[in-house]
Amino acid sequence: MTSDSRVAADIVSDKHEFRFTLADFRQICRLIYERAGIKLSDSKTSMVYSRLSRRLRVLGLASFAEYLQLLEQGSEAEWTVFVGSLTTHLTSFYREPHHFPIMVKHVASHARNGKALLWSCATSTGEEPYTMAIAVAEHFESFNPPVRILATDVDTGVLEMASEGVYPVDRVRDLPERTVKKYFLKGSGEHAGFVRVRPELQRMISFHQLNLLSPVWPLKEQYDAIFCRNVMIYFDRPTQQKVLSKCLRHLKPDGLFFTGHSENLNYAADLFQSCGNTVYRPRAIPTTQSIMDTCGFRECRA
Ligand SMILES: C[S@@+](CC[C@H](N)C(=O)[O-])C[C@H]1O[C@@H](n2cnc3c(N)ncnc32)[C@H](O)[C@@H]1O
Repeated sequence: MTSDSRVAADIVSDKHEFRFTLADFRQICRLIYERAGIKLSDSKTSMVYSRLSRRLRVLGLASFAEYLQLLEQGSEAEWTVFVGSLTTHLTSFYREPHHFPIMVKHVASHARNGKALLWSCATSTGEEPYTMAIAVAEHFESFNPPVRILATDVDTGVLEMASEGVYPVDRVRDLPERTVKKYFLKGSGEHAGFVRVRPELQRMISFHQLNLLSPVWPLKEQYDAIFCRNVMIYFDRPTQQKVLSKCLRHLKPDGLFFTGHSENLNYAADLFQSCGNTVYRPRAIPTTQSIMDTCGFRECRA
C-alpha cells in the first residue's frame, strides 16, 4: 500500500461532517510547513480534521476545499487561527524543572555586569516565561531583579493568553502552596476557579510575536539564556538547523541554550556542546587570533 493510499484510507469523507480529501490534507501539510515549519506526518489526518473542522463550523463552510480557498485569499487573522489550530501548545509551570536552577545560577553569575537577558522563544500560553520569572525572583528575593525576559511565539492567540496571565487553578495545583500564595492572585466572583500571575512578575516579561521561520528576527540583543523547548520537534532537520544557527547568533558566547526532554542537538555538534541534561553552550568559534596562536600561521603581510 502506498503512503497516499494509506492516508486516503484514513480520510473516509462520507463519515465526516465536512468533505475532506487527500488533496486537502496534502495542501494543509504544505501550508503549515511553509508558514510555521511544522512537519505533519501522515498519521495526523484525524488530528487535522478534528482541529480544523471546529473552524469550518464557526465560518459556516461545507468543505475543507472551501476553507483552503478562503485561507489562501484570506486575512492574516485567519492564518493565525490556522497555525494556532494545528500547533501543540502543551506546557506547564516548572515543566522540566531541572532547567530552572541551572538558569538561575547562570543568571546570578552574569547579572553582576548589568541586566541578564533571557528569551523563551516558543512561549505558548506563558507558563514557561512566568516560571523563569518566579525562579529569578526567588533567587534575588525581589520582584525587580536584574533580569529581563523576552517571550515570543508564532501564535498571537496563545501570546494573548500569556500576557493576560490568567489560568484555571488546576494549572497551579502541583506548585508548592507558598509559591502560589507569593506569585499568584486568587480569583473571586466571576473569576472564581482562576488565578492571575502577580503584575510585578508580569513586568519582568515582554511578549511579542516572532515566527522562528521568518528570515529576519526583530532582535537586537544577545541573550544570556535561550529556552527553545518542545518546538524543534515539529520542524524537519533542515529547518531545525536553520533555526539553531540563527539562535546561536542571538546567544552570548558563554550563554546557555535549553531544549525539551526529547530534543538533543547531536546533529548540531559543530554549533553546540552539551553541558548538562538538555542544556547546551555554543561551541567556541575559532578566531583568527586563536588560530595564529595555536597552528603556526601568521598574517601574510607580517
Ligand atoms: C509544545 S509548545 C512548547 C511550550 C514551552 N516552550 C514548553 O516547553 O513548555 C510549542 C509552541 O511552539 C510554538 N511554535 C510552533 N511553531 C513555531 C514557529 N515557527 N515559531 C515560533 N513558535 C512556534 C507553538 O505555537 C507552541 O506554542
